[in-house]
Amino acid sequence: MLFLDSSEPREIRDIFSWGVVSGITTNPLILSRESGAHDLEPRIREVIGASRGPVSVELTHETESDMLSEAATYHAWDPARICIKVPFSETGLKVLSQLVARGVSTNMTCMMSFNQAYLASLAGATYVSLFSGRIRDMGYDVRPIVRDTRAVLDREKLASQILIGSVRHLMDVNESLQDGAHIVTVPPPILRKMLWNPRTESTIEEFNTAWRNRQR
Ligand code: E4P
Repeated sequence: MLFLDSSEPREIRDIFSWGVVSGITTNPLILSRESGAHDLEPRIREVIGASRGPVSVELTHETESDMLSEAATYHAWDPARICIKVPFSETGLKVLSQLVARGVSTNMTCMMSFNQAYLASLAGATYVSLFSGRIRDMGYDVRPIVRDTRAVLDREKLASQILIGSVRHLMDVNESLQDGAHIVTVPPPILRKMLWNPRTESTIEEFNTAWRNRQR
């Protein structure tokens, strides 16, 4: 599946009309860049209105009690659609497992390794987010991490879905899906690149020109 990595309601509405996207991911950096001038709650409500499926909203506090109360605030905005994005850490695991026990949809995020993704899956995360571009920035190969994580999730029948974020290139999408990611969250400019093929365009042009110029 594909999710859209964006908080821009107009862009979200436009791309959802293609019928190919199943959810939204945001993070504090995306929201600061795209929606910094807006209050968070109305902005997330707009994003919900412009999309379908889960909308990941990330916790920004760092203590267990603050994170739980932040999660309760976001969850209340739309319990059926909000997915609480919990940054990976020891405290994050404690927070996530309590949210899981309450039946809240969760996305454990900022993960860079198989170990972290496995722990998040054992804690019951709905989605385990591995950051492709940031893993590659450190000089590591993300592909075996995705393959190993998928193999263990399948072998141990863990319910978490692998969500690949930090997508920088079109090939990150293709390789992640081939390697066993359940979902890739794609920034709008990269999703638009998935449309494009010059041979498709020239073929359509050839067909339509032939039809317009047919002998009658
Ligand atoms: C998605 O869930 C992530 O937050 C996002 O893709 C991170 O992308 P970045 O590494 O480009 O900041």
